[in-house]
Amino acid sequence: MKIGIIGAMSVEVDALKAKLAECETVRVSGVDFFCGNLAGKDVVVAQCGIGKVFAAICAQTMILRFGVTHIINTGVAGTLSEKLSILDVAIADGVVQHDMDTSPIGDPVGLISGINKIVLPTSDYMAKIAADVAGELGVKYGRGIIASGDQFISSADRKRYIVDKFGAVACEMEGAAIGHVCYVNGIECLIVRAISDSASGEATMEYPQMVALAAEQSIKMTERIIQSL
Ligand code: ADE
Repeated sequence: MKIGIIGAMSVEVDALKAKLAECETVRVSGVDFFCGNLAGKDVVVAQCGIGKVFAAICAQTMILRFGVTHIINTGVAGTLSEKLSILDVAIADGVVQHDMDTSPIGDPVGLISGINKIVLPTSDYMAKIAADVAGELGVKYGRGIIASGDQFISSADRKRYIVDKFGAVACEMEGAAIGHVCYVNGIECLIVRAISDSASGEATMEYPQMVALAAEQSIKMTERIIQSL
């Protein structure tokens, strides 16, 4: 087993990088890959950058160049569910790209042509471990679809659109791209995200205050998940 851990921003991965034993850094396509040992497991940690393209580059590189068998995407998200408040954790059962839209040529919104799926499944076995870890840590969590797109969601209208179309519980900007790459490569994938904001009108005020705490919450979960894998 080799585990890739991807976060978009430094606040989402720096504390993990700092804990790596026997660490070696390799730079590929402008991304630094930190290879080492965490909780007795062979891991690669990378900060991919914000958005779906950077996330996909990073995930594919982890698979082809570093031979990871499992990928965990850790970080923060906006909530789309009344059941998930700030600092609670969303664990993906599947991922959707809410900004994928070929509906003008007759497809349902969100359809990924070629694969012909809207929701891509993520690893059920890893999600179960994540849920157990949340229980052990006393962290409130919800499992469901996580929606990604190249947009920071901060309006009630867009939030409602994503909920109505896809039934998603949280939104962010990378998970579905990582899920897509893992799906086509047959790699186990977990998306675990702590809530940093309401993804509605207040989001831009809440986010700067909560992002560091939420990122820390997701990192705490990720460390324990790695131990349990
Ligand atoms: N990451 C954290 N909060 C987010 C939001 N509201 N929209 C997109 N990505 C996010």
